[in-house]
Amino acid sequence: MSLDLTADTPSAPAVADDGVWLACIECGETFAPFSAIRYTCDHCDGLLEVRYDDPPTFDDFEGRGVWRYSAALPFEMGVSLPEGDTPLHHVPRLEEEIGIERLRVKHEGMNPTGSFKDRGMTVGVRVAEELGVDRLACASTGNTSAALAAYGARGGMPTLVLLPAGKVAAGKIAQAALHDARILEVDGNFDDCLDIVQDLAARGEVYLLNSLNPFRLEGQKTIGLEILEEFHADHGTYPDRIVLPVGNAGNTSALYKCFRELVQSGALDADDVPKLTGVQAEGAAPMVEAIEEGNDEVRRWPDVETIATAIRIGNPVNAPKALPGIRQTGGTAVSVTDEAITDAQRSLASEGVGVEPASATSIAGLRKLREQGVVDDDEQVVCLTTGHLLKDPDAAFAAGNKPESVPNDTEAILDHIAE
Ligand code: F0G
Repeated sequence: MSLDLTADTPSAPAVADDGVWLACIECGETFAPFSAIRYTCDHCDGLLEVRYDDPPTFDDFEGRGVWRYSAALPFEMGVSLPEGDTPLHHVPRLEEEIGIERLRVKHEGMNPTGSFKDRGMTVGVRVAEELGVDRLACASTGNTSAALAAYGARGGMPTLVLLPAGKVAAGKIAQAALHDARILEVDGNFDDCLDIVQDLAARGEVYLLNSLNPFRLEGQKTIGLEILEEFHADHGTYPDRIVLPVGNAGNTSALYKCFRELVQSGALDADDVPKLTGVQAEGAAPMVEAIEEGNDEVRRWPDVETIATAIRIGNPVNAPKALPGIRQTGGTAVSVTDEAITDAQRSLASEGVGVEPASATSIAGLRKLREQGVVDDDEQVVCLTTGHLLKDPDAAFAAGNKPESVPNDTEAILDHIAE
């Protein structure tokens, strides 16, 4: 299998452009990176990934944010707002309550549009410029559309977003609207929207910027690079495990690719690769099902439901990249209830870290795995929180304290707060 963690760096095929090319993860066919628009393999329809003849070591990085890692990316610079360089929070009370040696929270909600999608878009929109496309598009549970709208606006390109009607959090639609995306609300779920936008892309109507686009995942790799660098600088070691929410499994795939390239360049020992641990909501858990049942393929769930609307996804398109990532790093996948998600959202908030429901699944999943004894008490863990609290104000109101009406009078207010 071409996703072997210890595989050697491949030498550049004739189609490579400056040491960069696209390769099919199923049949190995290679393609020039920027001469034509393609999202999957011409021959077998397998997923594509970006390959490099010279993956970097930590010494090759310079500057801040996503473009600090340009040595690991296909370009020196992209359409930037700028993105990345997000905090790796200490959360001492949660660390103690969950009962592990070390817990840190990588808060991707601190990106310019409030989610990790910005890391993928800064690269993806740069590629769109290179290809000279007219119109950018995505299907989205919300965050991808917000990021695409902002980066499209920044790059001066029109954007079209397809959203599942009634299932996208208010903050995300507000962003797409104000950044001037054309918003189509589809009477269907996210997976239906993705089917349609793939049809539009196949007909040449739009350039697709969902995580099926292999260049998006290049930008998202930088989450892993930032975590490893900062964790090592602070603690002299790498985390044993990274726990993250899973929807389309793009991030899971991107982190695995990050680790493989570092192992290939000699920057990271294969033994130091963190265990990738994916978390889904119980009502939308096809990846968890595949991991638990040991399946090579993921069954598409036609009906999905969860409070974590960002990951209300039944057909994780990057599963062929992500399943080997979870398995080969020794990780696992677990599902959590909506109640556990809201509890975890409150726990994070009580440490000052405000996240949307999907993000809190990482903490809820870690809690469950610790209770089950899957995670040991001596582990050092990083949980990824993928989106900001303000993305989903309705969920925050529902989970938090209710405002209290009081008279316009100091004495009355003193009485009220003494109650
Ligand atoms: N967390 C948040 C906040 C998300 O918005 C998403 C995906 C994920 C986790 C899952 O990431 O797909 O890489 O496994 N949101 C997409 C969107 C689907 O349209 O915004 P993944």
